[in-house]
Amino acid sequence: MNSLTPLDFKELVFSEYSVSEITNNPKNKIDYLNKLVNEGNIIVFKNELDKHTPTQLIKYFKNILLNNLETMVPIQEKCPNYVRFSHSDERAEVPIFCDSVSFFPWNRDLCDLFPSYFKFYQLKNLFSGAPINRYLRTSENGATARIAAHHYPEGKGFLGCHTDPIGSHQEITCTVLLDSGINDQCKLGGYYVIKNKEKVFFEINLNPGDFYIGHPLIPHGIEAQGKLSSFNPLSSLGRWSLLFAVNRLFDNKSISDSKNIEI
Ligand SMILES: [Fe+2]
Repeated sequence: MNSLTPLDFKELVFSEYSVSEITNNPKNKIDYLNKLVNEGNIIVFKNELDKHTPTQLIKYFKNILLNNLETMVPIQEKCPNYVRFSHSDERAEVPIFCDSVSFFPWNRDLCDLFPSYFKFYQLKNLFSGAPINRYLRTSENGATARIAAHHYPEGKGFLGCHTDPIGSHQEITCTVLLDSGINDQCKLGGYYVIKNKEKVFFEINLNPGDFYIGHPLIPHGIEAQGKLSSFNPLSSLGRWSLLFAVNRLFDNKSISDSKNIEI
């Protein structure tokens, strides 16, 4: 398999350890988890939000989205946090309708997201064999940590099927589910991964506050949920997640972008 061949989803595996138990004593645990991830399993850590509740965070992010205009900010050292309204924009490599807030480690914020949840980057760093506190306060080797709160609004939110770049900057993707978007009208939730060319909506098996890791080369996307008429830009309905990403700085060409996948 070359390094960009998409990988089929295998199954959900529920970790017997919490993320902190692994980062405090990683011996023998990372190799085992790495093998599971490389086989296409998605590993779930239950109830990992220890500082905030998912509903608190959704309220916080929605208020930011309601009270800020979009600004185009290149990702670079000391750049400001920003909001983005990605509304089926032809500039995007992967088609998308999503509202997001991005946070960088050098900026403080009301809910202390980086100090509260840096453990997820520590886990990511262990998987990469990098120093455990890489990206704690600054960019390193042309890449930076970026916590992204994503809202896929009911009625319009979607994300085209794609794989994410893999490299020494990140070997796994890390997500906290805040709201799957499941309700009486939307039974499956929007997020899916691909297995045998079929979409698997596994978030139906998770709860808000659960954290999961997976291989960046498992094709994944978000299906639009609910009727178009249910869309309301002021509403918080839909799928919400927190993504613990590592991104290249704008002038670093050595890390590739996400790849669109036809299914
Ligand atoms: Fe992705």
